[in-house]
Amino acid sequence: MNMNDIDKNFDTQKIINEFPALKQKVWDKSLVYLDSAASMQKPKDVIDVINNNYSKEYSNVHRGLHFLSEKATESYEEARRKVAKFINADEKEIIFTSGATASINLVAYSWGMENLSPNDEIILTIAEHHANFVPWQYIAGIKKANIKVAYFDPDKDFDIKIIKSLISDKTKVITFPHVSNVLGTIFPIKEICNLAKSVNAISLVDGCQGINHFPVDVKNIGCDFYCFSGHKLYGPTGIGILYGNYKLLENMPPFLCGGDMIDVVSIDKTTFADPPLKFEAGTPPIVQAIALGKAIDWINKYGIENIGNYEQKLISYAYDKLQKIDGVNIFGKNKNKAGVISFTMDCAHSHDIATIIDREGVAVRAGHHCAQPLLDHFNLSSTTRASVGAYSTYEDFDRLVLSLEKVKKIFK
Ligand SMILES: Cc1ncc(COP(=O)(O)O)c(C=O)c1O
Repeated sequence: MNMNDIDKNFDTQKIINEFPALKQKVWDKSLVYLDSAASMQKPKDVIDVINNNYSKEYSNVHRGLHFLSEKATESYEEARRKVAKFINADEKEIIFTSGATASINLVAYSWGMENLSPNDEIILTIAEHHANFVPWQYIAGIKKANIKVAYFDPDKDFDIKIIKSLISDKTKVITFPHVSNVLGTIFPIKEICNLAKSVNAISLVDGCQGINHFPVDVKNIGCDFYCFSGHKLYGPTGIGILYGNYKLLENMPPFLCGGDMIDVVSIDKTTFADPPLKFEAGTPPIVQAIALGKAIDWINKYGIENIGNYEQKLISYAYDKLQKIDGVNIFGKNKNKAGVISFTMDCAHSHDIATIIDREGVAVRAGHHCAQPLLDHFNLSSTTRASVGAYSTYEDFDRLVLSLEKVKKIFK
């Protein structure tokens, strides 16, 4: 599609009108929300389904034989089907968790405890969010396995040769982000998963910053695990997804034990339910799952591909604007990025930048973005990060630029 057609086919004003939170003023200025990578705002459809569910349809799931429980169970399982369809998985391969962090911990612990041995190797990248670094570091410590880090040039596309140079017959896990939450680097996920297969290692894609900008087809990617958080996909907090290859899920022990994940319990022995329920111990995040299903309906109304193409244009616009400001340094000069753009300023610390521009109504994130190893490696302690959703606009970035000029005036 021609670049201008992307804008023509995308009615941003209509979208903005669907997000009540975006209509407010902060510090007496209309809100510019450029913190979607941390958490996205929610469309009215999602807010309404939460309200409606608690008002009229709420009950616990799976256990009840009454009207409301059956209705809640059907809606909860329907949400699972929607997620499965969204990423081209089978519904049995979709586990509801509390978020991406919980999804990754589940795999690292459950798969890792069973399958890792001393001197085995886990490959991950320098750009991991702590959520996809600390669980692996922790399990590696317990199992005496080794972590191998894929370092890469943030100014270039990720080169698959870096992973090739790290794999060995000891490689058991290769894990990486779909998109870096700091640099916006888009990883060649299919190629990396193929490499993992070639050495019989498992692959886990941290999809938190990819699922919201790209169509995802887990079968085509060939990953063993793909995970993300609902709140970064226009859904509520407290819900996450772990997609897992069914054969692997079948052979993994439970992560948490309790109600709903069992088959039969006796004093001497417990047998477990099949996946996905084996990994859903206790009362699940029922309304959150249903609302995530609604968020997916909302995305499908516009099409994730259309949303992603539009956002790509926004980030490119932001890049051009920011690089023209004297004293602004973009972290990750590769223009081929998705969703986020990070920068530092010569004149001010990122916390000061974020605080000052907040008074102009512009919400961004400042700090290490839960990616301390990445920032340390490049001798940075923090950056300012602007990130987009389907409701973001070119004008948002014009406002960002104006507010940065204010920062420069204050610190000149
Ligand atoms: C790339 C990436 N991975 C994992 C996470 C963790 O997500 P959550 O805190 O929702 O579990 C985040 C959140 O910022 C992220 O951006």
